[in-house]
Amino acid sequence: MNYLKFLSLTLLSLALSFCANKETPPNAEQLLEKAEMQLNHLLEEAEKANDIPRTLTALREIHWINKGFDWTEGFFPGSCWYLYEHTGDEKWKKAAEKFQAPYESHKYNIDNHDLGFIFNCSYGNGYRITQNPSFKEVMVTAADSLITRFNPQVGCIQSWNADKGWQAKRGWKFPVIVDNMMNLELLFEVSQLTKDPKYAKIAIAHANTTLQHHFRPDHSSYHVVDYDPETGEVRSKETAQGYAHESSWARGQAWGLYGFTLCYRYTQKPEYLKIAEDIASFYLQHENLPADLIPYWDFNAPNIPEEPRDVSAAAIVVSALIELDGFSSTSYRPVIDKILSSLSSETYTATIGENQGFILDHSVGSIPHGAEIDVPLNYADYYYIEALTRYKNQF
Ligand code: GLY
Repeated sequence: MNYLKFLSLTLLSLALSFCANKETPPNAEQLLEKAEMQLNHLLEEAEKANDIPRTLTALREIHWINKGFDWTEGFFPGSCWYLYEHTGDEKWKKAAEKFQAPYESHKYNIDNHDLGFIFNCSYGNGYRITQNPSFKEVMVTAADSLITRFNPQVGCIQSWNADKGWQAKRGWKFPVIVDNMMNLELLFEVSQLTKDPKYAKIAIAHANTTLQHHFRPDHSSYHVVDYDPETGEVRSKETAQGYAHESSWARGQAWGLYGFTLCYRYTQKPEYLKIAEDIASFYLQHENLPADLIPYWDFNAPNIPEEPRDVSAAAIVVSALIELDGFSSTSYRPVIDKILSSLSSETYTATIGENQGFILDHSVGSIPHGAEIDVPLNYADYYYIEALTRYKNQF
């Protein structure tokens, strides 16, 4: 290890233990039991509505997916799979199967890049836990649909469509968002399941192109990079859900950290480990990261400290850091303990029976779109349960 690397790792370790000093390690078993008690309430509501809960409205009523295509539709069934894995209670298996079944046909959708989120979190966890071959078929079909959006000239899977919805007003041709790193897990999994390397090759190409163009010198990332689909040239680097094009949207940093950590899991490519460590350093050492390590929705939001926090970003980050801790020579344990303790405190965790059954509160969907501000989100709960499961298994 060279001197500079040694020095920066030592400084990071000192900073990590300073900002997360003397934290009592969270009791993941107990927290999972508490999470289960709370999700029992949400499950009761979901059974009555026969629908998947996404968030709460301004009136604190449950906002249901309403059986349309929704990028978050896999998270509630995914949480049920994790609870089935934890408890062995058939009730959670039945719930996961019931709530993932209605959107199975979305595996044919070639109009959206979120198939990785949707199918890996639900059917993917289901297959990992049960080995049900019908779940494997769903994953393979979804991966086949997802790779139709890959453009070899660009070296990326197209995220949003440039000609539909609010995106059409932005003048993009081939927009790729950092969130798309999360969809690669499905492709790596399906390559392993089918022994066909084509999915993993596309995932690696996408990760390499993202590594080349999405990051600034300080290792923060842009949200959207738009490419010319004919030449592969970068047309612009922007944001859609962050505060400004040159700001650092908190959940975007979380997606990048989680995405490159999972790419390292499947490939052992050192450049993926390095960027994951560098993103973690950017995030954890940022002067605007509050002492409880729950970020504001954007690190450069103009009215910090009077800005909403984004609990979902913290839940994604802590789950990623637990995995990264197993790969890196840096110990992230002090900050992992601190983030999990903060998330599990009454500031962010609802009292059982309140919050309509969502576990965590105070996340942000998209402030520029005026959507889902300071609310629970099904993906915040999903990554929190995943983090507790990883913590229990790893430490
Ligand atoms: N992938 C959408 C979001 O993070 O809001």
